[in-house]
Amino acid sequence: MIEDPKRYTITAALPYTNGPVHIGHLAGVYVPADIYARFQRLQGKDVLFVCGSDEHGVPITLKAKKEGVSPQNIVDKYHTMIKESFEKFGITFDNYSRTSAKIHHETASEFFQKLYDDGKFVEEITEQLFDEEAQQFLADRFVVGTCPKCGYEESYGDQCENCGTSHNATDLINPKSAISGSTPITKKTKHWFLPLDQYEPWLKEWIIKGHKKDWKTNVYGQCKSWIDDGLRPRAVTRDLDWGIPVPVEGGEGKVLYVWFDAPIGYISATKEWANENNKEWEPYWKDKHSKLLHFIGKDNIVFHCIIFPSMLKAEGSYILPDNVPANEFLNLEGNKISTSKNWAVWLHEYLVDFPDQQDVLRYTLTANAPETKDNDFTWADFQARNNSELVAIFGNFINRVAVLTHKYYEGVIPSPSTFSEVDEKTLDELKTYPNVIASSIERYRFREAQMELMNVARLGNKYLADEEPWKTIKTDEERTKTVMYVALQIAAALAVLSEPFLPHTSEKLKRILNFKEASSGQELSWGKASETSTLLKEEHRIEKSELLFSRIEDAQMQQQRDKLEASKKENEANNASVEPQKDMIQFDDFTKLDMRVGTILEAEKMPKTKKLMVLKVDTGLDERTIVSGIAESFSPEEIVGKKVTVLVNLAPRALRGVESQGMILMTENAEGKLVFVNPDEEGIVNGSTIN
Ligand code: 2FM
Ligand code: ZN
Repeated sequence: MIEDPKRYTITAALPYTNGPVHIGHLAGVYVPADIYARFQRLQGKDVLFVCGSDEHGVPITLKAKKEGVSPQNIVDKYHTMIKESFEKFGITFDNYSRTSAKIHHETASEFFQKLYDDGKFVEEITEQLFDEEAQQFLADRFVVGTCPKCGYEESYGDQCENCGTSHNATDLINPKSAISGSTPITKKTKHWFLPLDQYEPWLKEWIIKGHKKDWKTNVYGQCKSWIDDGLRPRAVTRDLDWGIPVPVEGGEGKVLYVWFDAPIGYISATKEWANENNKEWEPYWKDKHSKLLHFIGKDNIVFHCIIFPSMLKAEGSYILPDNVPANEFLNLEGNKISTSKNWAVWLHEYLVDFPDQQDVLRYTLTANAPETKDNDFTWADFQARNNSELVAIFGNFINRVAVLTHKYYEGVIPSPSTFSEVDEKTLDELKTYPNVIASSIERYRFREAQMELMNVARLGNKYLADEEPWKTIKTDEERTKTVMYVALQIAAALAVLSEPFLPHTSEKLKRILNFKEASSGQELSWGKASETSTLLKEEHRIEKSELLFSRIEDAQMQQQRDKLEASKKENEANNASVEPQKDMIQFDDFTKLDMRVGTILEAEKMPKTKKLMVLKVDTGLDERTIVSGIAESFSPEEIVGKKVTVLVNLAPRALRGVESQGMILMTENAEGKLVFVNPDEEGIVNGSTIN
């Protein structure tokens, strides 16, 4: 671990541009990274915080194919959307770039060329999976099959989402093309491999000996298990037409593997920033006194802890990450967040539904951050965090202080008289918080840090509740002045300390406290807050109070839950499997079927069976008995009187001794429940068979 770094190079995983960003992204990567970056800036540190869109890779080409547009079209759309979401949530990237940028293509190409020239790659002709129907090599997400490690049947070619293992597409058992669904053949093709096996001893030394203590247990554990399993050479090129062309001889028609180019995106984003700001990029990547940090989600650990560092090591002139504070995953209302299943809270939608409430989401996601284990986001928790914590504790304290200051002193901070023991104790305690919070942030414990921030607001509330200035104002003006003076100092500390976590709130609070004016000549910084417990001076005038937070009502939460319920339904309908079409029949065959409309007159469950129901049906021709397998889907009462379609000339057959004289036509809805044929009914999808 670098002590007292000269500068911080902070990276946040480049999101894929095959969809918008959701709360899982924010909780796992961008909010913690932003808290850290903001905090270091507040310490006066030299910070560079970069990110950008990851615009190559198979998911993007698959999405483009599905929508019948070009990959460029897809990435342009989502890049703009994602960038805007991040800005609105106050994620303070110094540069948000994109991997389709010219500077990135050049940087990644040069990086590859350098490793190639230095003989760092192994060139090999190997058998790769090939889709004969699509006439395309299959790697990564173009292929799905059984994971050789855990047996999960939906593993991708490059990585198993179930056990996290990263493998080669040819390792999959029963591979299937994600393009055509066909079973691929193998075909020879040339690729360049980074011989990770050669880096094993060095990685052992660097991670196992060097970082065992300071890296998070989940990160260290994954790395160790990877290294213990033995590392193998890894292809860094692909037979694809979307990506950065392989710049060397024999590379025609091939591109760099997305996981080779994407992390280089951090470097290109730095270069782009340096060019635009007349700065130098190299110190951030090559000076050993710079602290390089990668904020990522757990599925990216191996790429940031093993593969990218090996690339940097192979290149030779770069520093290595000092830490990779990866988070676990955030679930949503008990289920895994899924882009394809639309089981997510999308940031661009949140911004529409909760305008100006970005900090509430930042707060909830940090309070419940998946730092050491997967966690669940629920709307109930979101509402409670807002109403019982932000509104009731933080907001309430500030509001009382601001309102009373105006009521008693027309907004001017009063002069305190002698501090009581409680005052002294409160101010002493207040002074400890900047360091307490800082220490948690430095250790990447953002939940803990934010909890301590709330303890400052709790301290304020308790102080006011105990000292009761609204009572002493009637009896002891001097005492009231002192109490209000102390309470105002707590409010001021909150304005400074909340900035990394609740930037919009901090800004509002600074406005209320008129920080701009208060800071002329002295800095109301984090450092100052740890030196003195009295940031605001007497005579300073504050502004009128504005509400920091507002209550979130049950109806709003219900709306959000309904939205999720709707996507669950839609998803079930989309996923309902459609049976293949049966053999052709002639018109004559069809006319043989005699179907009539009938009414169910009586219904009775057949004893000792689960499924069968004995029905009496008026067919218009007669009243007849039909035995139907619908008892698990209906009760007798609910179907008596129903109009149904009946196949009346089906040869009678005996079921459990009762002769059935026809068949009622049924289909299944998305939940597998039998329903009478009425295609307009909710949940009936195209392709449902009628039988
Ligand atoms: O998992 C992902 O979303 C990747 N796009 C992350 C890339 S991080 C970095 F290497 F660029
Ligand atoms: Zn697996």
